[in-house]
Amino acid sequence: MEFRKTAHADAQRLLDFYVENRTHLALWEPERSDRFYTLDYWQEQMQNRTAEMQEGRAVYFMAVDDRDNVGAVCNLTNIVRGVFQAGYMGYAVAKTYQGQGIMKALCVHVVDYAFEELQLNRVMSNYLPHNERSGNLLKSLGFGQEGYARRYLKINGHWEDHILTAKINPANL
Ligand SMILES: CC(C)(COP(=O)(O)OP(=O)(O)OC[C@H]1O[C@@H](n2cnc3c(N)ncnc32)[C@H](O)[C@@H]1OP(=O)(O)O)[C@@H](O)C(=O)NCCC(=O)NCCS
Repeated sequence: MEFRKTAHADAQRLLDFYVENRTHLALWEPERSDRFYTLDYWQEQMQNRTAEMQEGRAVYFMAVDDRDNVGAVCNLTNIVRGVFQAGYMGYAVAKTYQGQGIMKALCVHVVDYAFEELQLNRVMSNYLPHNERSGNLLKSLGFGQEGYARRYLKINGHWEDHILTAKINPANL
């Protein structure tokens, strides 16, 4: 697997990832409109991402296999500077690559990037209480539980409670 930032040329690749994993991801992600599964949407999305990345508001990474298919994605979004210096991490792995350590390796890459390149103080990531795989992954990455938020995100059409976790830049501890 190769880890790299997403670029405009990846629109079709990302569309394929979300189409192929539609059922696998449905329980854990926001409800997607039909337009989400079109190339138009992803081309527009890549333009938005370019602007966000240029302005330092987000970074989008993916893991690609030897056929250049997307195996996993991991994003840092809503980056806030000033006295906060923090961002939110979100991730997903393709069903075919689940349980192989690929997701963890990509997350390690992104957390290192957040702390070393972006010099953030805090990366936050939140998960559904029954998403054990996600909880285990965050624990193994060194994220600590910080709270429990009721009706925190609208996942698959329902407002769902989330466990809030974060990792602090070791350089600041
Ligand atoms: C949550 C999610 C990202 C976890 O992915 P994952 O592939 O299980 O995570 P990892 O890469 O850490 O893999 C962990 C597993 O791989 C195994 N593993 C770790 N390193 C490995 C390696 N080098 N080689 C082979 N296997 C390895 C671990 O033993 C572990 O297996 P286990 O869970 O059976 O003990 C994935 O289930 C997913 O995409 N779910 C749907 C979307 C989602 O929930 N997103 C997160 C929302 S908060």
